This record gives sequence, structure tokens and C-alpha cells, in this order.
Amino acid sequence: MRDSKKDGNAAPPVLASRTADSVSRTPTRRASRAPGRGDGVAAKHESGIVYLVGAGPGDPELLTLKAARLLQQADVCVYDHLVSNDVLGLVRRNAELIYAGKEKSNHALAQAEINALLVALARKGKRVLRLKGGDPFIFGRGGEEMQFLAEHGIPFEVVPGVTSASGASTYGGIPLTHRDYAQACIFVTGHLKSGTCDLDWEMLARRNQTVVVYMGMGQIEEICGQLKAHGLPADWPAAAIERATTAKQRVVTGTLTTLPGRAAHAHLKPPALIVVGEVVKLRGELGWFDTDAESLITHTEPAHA
Ligand SMILES: C[S@@+](CC[C@H](N)C(=O)[O-])C[C@H]1O[C@@H](n2cnc3c(N)ncnc32)[C@H](O)[C@@H]1O
Repeated sequence: MRDSKKDGNAAPPVLASRTADSVSRTPTRRASRAPGRGDGVAAKHESGIVYLVGAGPGDPELLTLKAARLLQQADVCVYDHLVSNDVLGLVRRNAELIYAGKEKSNHALAQAEINALLVALARKGKRVLRLKGGDPFIFGRGGEEMQFLAEHGIPFEVVPGVTSASGASTYGGIPLTHRDYAQACIFVTGHLKSGTCDLDWEMLARRNQTVVVYMGMGQIEEICGQLKAHGLPADWPAAAIERATTAKQRVVTGTLTTLPGRAAHAHLKPPALIVVGEVVKLRGELGWFDTDAESLITHTEPAHA
């Protein structure tokens, strides 16, 4: 991976960075050195506006150009814990940073508080950057937040980001579709609003498709067990990918039978995705990113033929 900090030094102002160690992960607010609009960029909406922006899975070079521009124009940035320090380092130096949390057990701000905060900041005339990991409209509650803004008459724009399934698959060497193995790809969450993992197992346990489970690490045993119980072979290929696209990426491969034990043995922790399908077999051939011994935890037993 390229050294983004090094690149940042030589980059034009739009990619000028703040240092990663100045980034706060505590719920406290950090006072802005220059409150309000102050960088000379003309504001499009005098009333304030919220930009809901996808920060991608971690590697800052996966940001869209539009996201990079908005990072540089924000007055205030409200960010979730999945946004990487490297991405936060690209937020305009004088912008106020507000940590909204959202780890499973540590919501620095409740969802209702985040909604109210976005409305209040926009009503003060701020350009608010609502920064979320991956894509804001994929398991990111981005839709719910924008609904709240719409109800309150706040202007907003949404910028897509690279979702973690896409980042994990490409940096993990596991294509989500492949003409020989998977003609469909399904994204599901392993963590439902109700707290259960009650998915449509019959639909998920089909061949010729790839299933990517977000937020599933806590239920990996049940997920693999249900897929087998609903018809997939015990030796069907499966993988778990932790911190995809970052220098800390780790990939564990196996089968529906072996993956839960292997992931536990490797102490894989969220954020991580589970990928199920024959495309996992391709990692041995296509893995290109995490090729050092530390991050490469691949078990190359023959997968289901
Ligand atoms: C609340 S969801 C947010 C998903 C996000 N909006 C996206 O599009 O990727 C959080 C889950 O996304 C997955 N995730 C996010 N970033 C990841 C990463 N860098 N590596 C692996 N999984 C990640 C994990 O399954 C994590 O539990």
C-alpha cells in the first residue's frame, strides 16, 4: 500500500492532511480553531447543508474525488468509529471533529442524538460532513439519518463510498462474482435490529452465488451451521476478512465446518466480513495485497469441487 502521509506532502491542497495522532476517538467535542466558514470556499447553501459521505473501508486512496473535496470543505465532521485515521487525517485542518461512535457496545452518541446534532449544526449554517465507513447506504443507517434531515427541511447530498464487501473482496483476492462459480452476490447483515440472526437461510444456502455477511462475526458459528443445515456442503468454501484494505488486514479461509474454529483461533475481531462461496477458492491464485506472513492466515485445504 502506498504511504498516504508521504503522498499527502506532495499532494495539492485538496489532499492536505492533518496528522493521524491529532484524531480523537473520544465522545468529547474538539473546539474548532476557526468556527464557521473560514477557508474562503464559497458555501453553496447559506442555510447549511449535510453531506453524507462514504469513507470507504479504510485505505484513504479508495475515497472518491468528491469525498476528498468535501473533506476539505467541511466546517464540521461528524464521524463513526469505522472511519479510518488515515481518512480522518484528510479532513480540513480547521474543521471541528465530532466522534459519533457506533461500536456495537460503545455508542458515543445515540442515533437520536446524532440526528438532532446534524439538524442543529446545519441550522447554524455549517457545512456538515457526516462521514461513515464504507458506503453510507449499505448497513450504515445513512437512509435513516437522511430521512430525519428531509423531515426537518435540511438540505443534504449523499456521496457513495466503496463498501467493505467490495474492498475486502478485491484486497482479499476473492472476486464476488466469477462466471465459473457465482452469478449472483448477496449482502446480508448478521445483526438484525431485533438482535437476532433470523435470515432467509434457504435463499442464502444456494450454489452459484456468493454471500457476504456484514456484522456476522459474533454469530459465525450459527451462520455457518444454518447454511449447512439448509443444504450447502460441509466443505463449502468460506472466509473471514478483518480490517480489509488496511495494513492490518487479515484473512482466514476454510470451509463452513472449519471457518468458525479458525477465526476464533486467529482471534479475528470486528470489523470483519464473512464471505461464503466457491469464489473463496480463488484467493490462493488472486491474493495480492496481504502477502506478508503476519497478515496472511490462509488455510489452503482443497475446497469443495
Ligand atoms: C455498520 S456496518 C457498516 C458497513 C459500511 N457502511 C460499508 O458499506 O461497508 C459495519 C460492518 O461492516 C463491515 N466492515 C466495515 N469495514 C470493514 C473493513 N475494513 N473490513 C472488514 N469488514 C468491514 C463489518 O462487518 C462491520 O461489522
